[in-house]
Amino acid sequence: MKILLVGDGAREHIIAEKLAADADLYAVMSRKNPAIARLCKKYWIANTTDAAAVAKAVDVVADLVFASPDAVLAAGVTDALVEKGMAAASPLKAAARIEWDKGFMRSLMVRHRIAGLPRHRVVQEDNEAIATIREYGMVAVKPLGLTGGKGVKVSGDHFKNMEEKFAYAQELIAKDGSVLIEEKLIGEEFTLQAFCDGNVLAFMPPVQDHKRAFVGDLGPNTGGMGSYSTGRLLPFMNDVDLEKAQAIMQHVINAMKKEGAPFTGVLYGQFMITADGPKVIEFNSRFGDPEAMNVLALLRTPLPEVFRSMAEGKLLKPEFANQCTVVKYLVPEGYPGKSRADAEVKVDEAALAETGASAYYASVYEKEGNVYTTGSRTFGILGMGGTLAEAEGIAEKGCKCVSGPVWHRHDIGTPELVQKRVEHMKELRK
Ligand SMILES: Nc1ncnc2c1ncn2[C@@H]1O[C@H](COP(=O)(O)OP(=O)(O)O)[C@@H](O)[C@H]1O
Ligand SMILES: [Mg+2]
Repeated sequence: MKILLVGDGAREHIIAEKLAADADLYAVMSRKNPAIARLCKKYWIANTTDAAAVAKAVDVVADLVFASPDAVLAAGVTDALVEKGMAAASPLKAAARIEWDKGFMRSLMVRHRIAGLPRHRVVQEDNEAIATIREYGMVAVKPLGLTGGKGVKVSGDHFKNMEEKFAYAQELIAKDGSVLIEEKLIGEEFTLQAFCDGNVLAFMPPVQDHKRAFVGDLGPNTGGMGSYSTGRLLPFMNDVDLEKAQAIMQHVINAMKKEGAPFTGVLYGQFMITADGPKVIEFNSRFGDPEAMNVLALLRTPLPEVFRSMAEGKLLKPEFANQCTVVKYLVPEGYPGKSRADAEVKVDEAALAETGASAYYASVYEKEGNVYTTGSRTFGILGMGGTLAEAEGIAEKGCKCVSGPVWHRHDIGTPELVQKRVEHMKELRK
């Protein structure tokens, strides 16, 4: 089978590794990720958010296409490649709307009475925004479109007072014409990803990501500093939480089909478990990055077969190893602010192999055989083990095998931090 992957980060590196193990891999990348390039029969460099440019660059008709990053899906890259005669395991632009239009996502939940909906309003007028913020008090103020994880601001985390909330809502109205205002939810967040064939979902193990830059969940938001999974329930959640989240995602898939935009691809549910059960923060139309590494490392069923079954509308049930995983992202000095670009970084592959960890290449580029940072995340380092503590220890050892001006959060996946989540949830459920 010939499979075409579009994308070039660490998430795409592990997807590429899984695809190349059982199929012929082709890729379109915006810059040469050396690790993905090594796995390909052929690759093309093109602007991956320009659907016409991607379609023009690719001179092979693959059996199957999987376009991966959010902005690529929003640009209609799947649609353009389907037009060239390829089957797709990633969503068409109309289905990916569940991610690129948060207003559509909320209104879909309203139209179909989907559970887990927080109080919210999409507003176009400054006065209505101010009144809504006054009414809710603690809020999340959200742009409707994609912002690379950097557009949402939340009371307590980003806003010091009411004036700052008003000002941000007004700024978004001036820029985009509208803004989404939600009540602030209190709880613990988790990610639930599922393969989907338009009708049926096959769930992957739940994962918890860490958005904040610094140890102890301090500092600015990032693309994600790392994540952990037990391969089963997360330590702070119970079976009912998981079942409710799964039911919500199935309801979403049914709603998308009814509205004429059936969802084929990976559906990513971002939930907050509150005192009142799981609520929906948002949906993404793709794997999470880092969460893809936690789950794909455990996948026992060949990924090309899973993708083919999705494209054919006959989803097979994939199997996962029962293991714990911890991912730690190595990021350049200064990240996420004035981040150090164009610095040379090196993975000591022999030492890494001895630790049992894996390194996935993220936002790096290769020049004359050397690897350099861009401003974004550099390597995802994955550890796997029978316990979270073991997986965490392996990931830490793996991080030590990388040289160059990069750093990471030492606390992700540690028993202390996980216990903090458990205590928080226990307190809320009282
Ligand atoms: N209603 C809410 N209550 C509390 N926190 C929220 C809420 N909505 C979003 N957040 C926080 O902001 C983050 C980003 O919001 P999200 O809707 O996922 O946007 P994006 O990932 O596109 O930036 C979430 O991971 C969550 O931590
Ligand atoms: Mg999100």
